[in-house]
Amino acid sequence: MTSSSALSIRALTKRYDTGLLALDAFDLEIPAGEFFGLLGPNGAGKTTLISAICNLIRVTSGQIRIFGRRHDDPEARRMMGLAEQDVNLDRFLDVEETLVYHGGYYGMSRHDARRRAGEMMDVFDLRAKAAVRAPLLSGGMRRRLLLARALMHEPQLVILDEPTAGVDFELRIELWRYIRRLHEQGTTILLTTHYLEEAQELCHDIALIRSGRLLARDSPSGLLEAFAAESLADVYVRAMAAA
Ligand SMILES: Nc1ncnc2c1ncn2[C@@H]1O[C@H](COP(=O)(O)OP(=O)(O)OP(=O)(O)O)[C@@H](O)[C@H]1O
Ligand SMILES: [Mg+2]
Repeated sequence: MTSSSALSIRALTKRYDTGLLALDAFDLEIPAGEFFGLLGPNGAGKTTLISAICNLIRVTSGQIRIFGRRHDDPEARRMMGLAEQDVNLDRFLDVEETLVYHGGYYGMSRHDARRRAGEMMDVFDLRAKAAVRAPLLSGGMRRRLLLARALMHEPQLVILDEPTAGVDFELRIELWRYIRRLHEQGTTILLTTHYLEEAQELCHDIALIRSGRLLARDSPSGLLEAFAAESLADVYVRAMAAA
């Protein structure tokens, strides 16, 4: 079943066991094929939202659909690729194994997984590190491996939680180019970043969130107009000040 909506979130509430309300009756609709940016300060609820979408945490209430399917449907899970904010690589696996195991986990044959892992190592310039275990990679290389792993099973919705945090200038430009290409091929992208210039450069649709609530959502030019702002940084400051 396909749907023109990649992601549909209705009245999503997440209260952690500590009592903290991280998402407050949150609604969000992302059309298929969108390049979407989620912006907000530390603690706004971005990672909570992503964890809920990917069914990594139990939501308190509300509904999430991925291309029309319930988010806890295994098929929905296969349609998503997630690069988490925390670099969570298995320290006992080398680069190639990390990718091949992930492919296996998503139902790829060993042959397909090895072929795709080769492609991903080429794209992310990790070929020379194929037999190196994650703890022996540099920080930027680990970030690249995380992205390569997220893309292994060719997901239609790619979710990137601060993919360029701590990444050098050259790699950032490379990643932008690659993510843009993915988007041009029809992949829906959901990205969080604290780099406003990155959001401005890449995203066609941006949501500003704070304290688990949506403050504003529009195209970069629509946001500039709505907030009578000169730059996305201005929009951000004004939206947060008004919240
Ligand atoms: N497992 C947890 N238990 C309790 N509270 C949590 C848990 N995870 C996150 N929180 C709280 O939920 C709120 C939202 O956190 P979240 O990680 O979603 O923010 P974020 O927008 O991703 O921030 P950042 O930009 O720093 O990554 C914060 O107040 C955080 O302390
Ligand atoms: Mg986060």
